[in-house]
Amino acid sequence: MTDARMRALRDRVGGLAYGGDYNPEQWDRSVWREDVRLMREAGVNLVSLGVFAWASLEPEPGTYEFGWLDEVMDLLHENGIAVNLATPTAAPPAWLIHRHPEVLPVMADGERFGFGNRLHYDPSSPIYREHAANITRRLAERYSFHPALAMWHISNEYGPTAYNEAASAGFRRWLRRRYGDLETLNEAWTTRFWGQVYTGWDQVEVPSVPRTWMNPSRILDFKRFTSDALLECFVAERDIVRSFRDDIPIVTNFMRFYRNADYWRWAPEEDAAALDIYPDPAEPDSHVASAFQFDLFRSLKGGRPWLLMEQATSAVSQWRLNVVKEPGRMRLGSLQAVSRGADSVMFFQWRAGRGGHERFHSAMLPHSGPESRTFREVANLGREVGLLAPVAGTTTRAEVAVLFDWNGWWGLEELWGLPRNDFSYVETVMRHYRPLWEHHYAVDVVSTRSDLSPYKVLVVPNAYLVDDEGVAAVTEFARSGGTVVMSFFSGVVDECNRVRPDGYPGAFRRLIGAKIDEYWPARPGERFTVEFADGRTATADWWREDIHLETGTALATYADGLLKGRAAVVANRFGTGRVVYFATLLEQDAFDRVLIGELRAAGVGNRFDGLPTHLECTVREDEGHEYLFLLNHDAEAAVAVPLGSPGTDLLTGLPASGEVSVPPLGAAVVRRARPA
Ligand code: GAL
Repeated sequence: MTDARMRALRDRVGGLAYGGDYNPEQWDRSVWREDVRLMREAGVNLVSLGVFAWASLEPEPGTYEFGWLDEVMDLLHENGIAVNLATPTAAPPAWLIHRHPEVLPVMADGERFGFGNRLHYDPSSPIYREHAANITRRLAERYSFHPALAMWHISNEYGPTAYNEAASAGFRRWLRRRYGDLETLNEAWTTRFWGQVYTGWDQVEVPSVPRTWMNPSRILDFKRFTSDALLECFVAERDIVRSFRDDIPIVTNFMRFYRNADYWRWAPEEDAAALDIYPDPAEPDSHVASAFQFDLFRSLKGGRPWLLMEQATSAVSQWRLNVVKEPGRMRLGSLQAVSRGADSVMFFQWRAGRGGHERFHSAMLPHSGPESRTFREVANLGREVGLLAPVAGTTTRAEVAVLFDWNGWWGLEELWGLPRNDFSYVETVMRHYRPLWEHHYAVDVVSTRSDLSPYKVLVVPNAYLVDDEGVAAVTEFARSGGTVVMSFFSGVVDECNRVRPDGYPGAFRRLIGAKIDEYWPARPGERFTVEFADGRTATADWWREDIHLETGTALATYADGLLKGRAAVVANRFGTGRVVYFATLLEQDAFDRVLIGELRAAGVGNRFDGLPTHLECTVREDEGHEYLFLLNHDAEAAVAVPLGSPGTDLLTGLPASGEVSVPPLGAAVVRRARPA
């Protein structure tokens, strides 16, 4: 059904969706007609409407004002613009908060949020849930069959973590479902330690106001619970709108590298993964992290197209320094998303707001109006997005997968008491992803529950916490012929955050063919020399392991220090597969060399080998065609790319053969017959 719903959306917008958040409730009626006229000029075919409009839709409890929304929906429809209608539940109105202050989330330090921002709700609050369900139902009753409606956008960027009474009650219910009885909970949380044993369920609370250290299993479960509590809010609203109508997609917008919601659990509940992404234009290579996010979002629903729901046309307003996107960068970033599987290019927001916190946030229609650089770029991109219609619905194939797992992330970063407590999971993952990006490999992102059979290589960055099913999946992947590239401090604890028995790395000792006697985090400034079998040396720092080979062999050993002669990188045959384990933090070049060498040895195909790093090359495909995206991130020099077989550049409509020249910050999208 999901695929049929997304197909319906594609048909509705005629290919890729183009548009943004539209907030007519912040503007006088007189502006609406101009908005719609300019939207048409810019090629907009979809707008997200009403995202924070609860106070305008239900100005007093039980009093509804839908007249303005009726008018806007009609106007958009008359102009051929479809609506992604939002439930407004990310912004509970002042009257609700005034009547029921307990809706406001209490933070970990015990302080309660005040009114004045958004996302000011405790997801476990029954009052919040009741009122959210009510406004959702009213909207669905009124608009489910409005001809403008093309998609539902449930709430916005689910995220608050709350430590309220209601959260404690919800947490207890969640724990009862998970563990059944207190004895099992006590066991799972190792509560004999520091005498934290619970003898009644009413003693179990959310982990608020800790005096420094806190039970790490309890925190881990609280993270899981919070993600699930938010998900329950989404599902409740989704089910309401779905009960009225079953044939249009329902989504919510996720965030970039967002730690508080396990998107692997969320994605199956919605029709498409939808991403809001704001790469910082001040960071010269922020597009590499974007590429990872785009791959993740495509992978969240098993390779299906995803939706780029929000991005900025130029500067944002949420950071201390908000620099502009230079000419061409907005286009390039948008095409980058499409090249990695997005079926939409959407922005926050259509028209720049005059007041409020985001008054300096860029928009498709900036304060300077249609005679502006931004609007010209927006209109041009709208035209090009139209030309890319054939790409909609197509997919990508990859032979390399990178494990990205929220439980592992929480394990590494939420808790104190590890051998070192400054892990950055995102940085670690990016260290592993960057060389794959630089060498133009197509990459999928996987969870421990994904089907690993399409891949030749599985990259496992610092997977500290992996549950038994995850361990079995990784192990089986290697046993049946895959190559696992794994980095240190992996497979250490079980799903309850308890150290696995029989020596480190309990879960993966046989897999890596070595036992680790002790983890040796480096002292500040400490560096080591590592020597490879071919005599090359490299430096390493940050982490070492006192590793003792069992079935594994050393790919590299320490050339100095107390661990001199001991393995720093291990290779092991396992079943019919191979495992390479990094027991230290190698300098990036050396790490890249080993990783890319393993990909080559595993026979991973790479059609773009040798092309410059700053030329991003990806392929989307359908049954008959492939769509070759060539994106030049360099602002100075053009790149000439030998094409092989000829095709048509969708952006120019011209035949492409021989060699294409991709200008600085430019792009080509070549459509051609798919190779046999
Ligand atoms: C998003 C949010 C939008 C807007 C935008 C600004 O996180 O969903 O409403 O605030 O950021 O960049």
